[in-house]
Amino acid sequence: MLGEKITARAHTNIALVKYWGKENEQLIIPANSSLSLTLDEFYTDTSVQFDEALSSDEVTLNGNVVNDEKITKFMDIIRQKANVNTFARIESTNHVPTSAGLASSASAYAALAAAGSKAYGLNLSQKDLSRLARRGSGSATRSIFGGFAAWNKGTDDESSYGYSIEDPVKMDVNMIAIILDNQPKKISSRKGMKISIETSPYYQSWIQQTTADFQTIEEAIKENDFTTLGKTAELNAMRMHSLTLSSDPSYLYINADSLEVINMVKELRENGVECYYTMDAGPNVKIICQSDKITAITDKLSDKFSNDQIKVSGPGEGIKYL
Ligand code: ADP
Ligand code: DP6
Ligand code: CO
Repeated sequence: MLGEKITARAHTNIALVKYWGKENEQLIIPANSSLSLTLDEFYTDTSVQFDEALSSDEVTLNGNVVNDEKITKFMDIIRQKANVNTFARIESTNHVPTSAGLASSASAYAALAAAGSKAYGLNLSQKDLSRLARRGSGSATRSIFGGFAAWNKGTDDESSYGYSIEDPVKMDVNMIAIILDNQPKKISSRKGMKISIETSPYYQSWIQQTTADFQTIEEAIKENDFTTLGKTAELNAMRMHSLTLSSDPSYLYINADSLEVINMVKELRENGVECYYTMDAGPNVKIICQSDKITAITDKLSDKFSNDQIKVSGPGEGIKYL
């Protein structure tokens, strides 16, 4: 028997308060709560169809066959919940560079959770979808929701879930992604954060600081205070990256090109163009700005980078079925 083919689209999200470390690796319970902006320009489309003729899951990513144990394990969670043993045909397309620090794992597992659960006959609430997406990749917990979203840390599978903070977003806020390198990173987020939590002597201070940053940004969203949001997001990102430097072995996602963009942001700011930078587990930088500054920023960036390396994005929508 062939099930109905279900397709879902999920957008990536970039954290303003980062998640960097797990309290429980198996269930993906984070060490701190995090807060993000879902982006319109970057997303994943995934379709799932179960087929009794299959003897294992068949997965393609951007048209290529992939063998990824993480996907099979994730599908097993869905099969267990649905009480169905049948394998599935899964087709996924990333409209975002894969494994490059632009949060492909977030849109990927949010889309797979939505398409997979529905294809297997489950009708999950947004909250339960976010809990399911979390099992694939932590950041996916937030990509179920559009606009500003958060992931409540919680202590177990029940209490660790995503929720909407504001969607549609009232604040005038955009992100400009500068694609410096679209090749897969050497140290995955999963591996990087494990080294940090296990070895950085600053990890406990990170937890304290990031809890404060969460409150500051939550308040800034309520107050429509772009300056506080931008400043705090930039600081929080660098606090996260200082955990990578202070790990044993020490490692770094920031490269020479990233530094160049960071310096451009500082220069723009000195010249009265308000903008802030953030970075995830990869060298690509995202600039946070308001609409009236986009042209000044992209003009400056285009001195050094080509147009196809510069992608301007506003807030994106939550999960949807196509
Ligand atoms: P990123 O910065 O892109 O989120 P991560 O290291 O967090 O990088 O995650 C990359 C991993 O996410 C990939 O190795 C792959 O396992 C998974 N992934 C990315 N895109 C997809 C997709 N469309 N479907 C399934 N898994 C995906
Ligand atoms: C720096 O969600 O990719 O982007 O849960 O192991 O799949 P896993 O990691 P992932 O980590 C994201 C790290 C980050 C910050 C963030 O998105 O909060
Ligand atoms: Co990721």
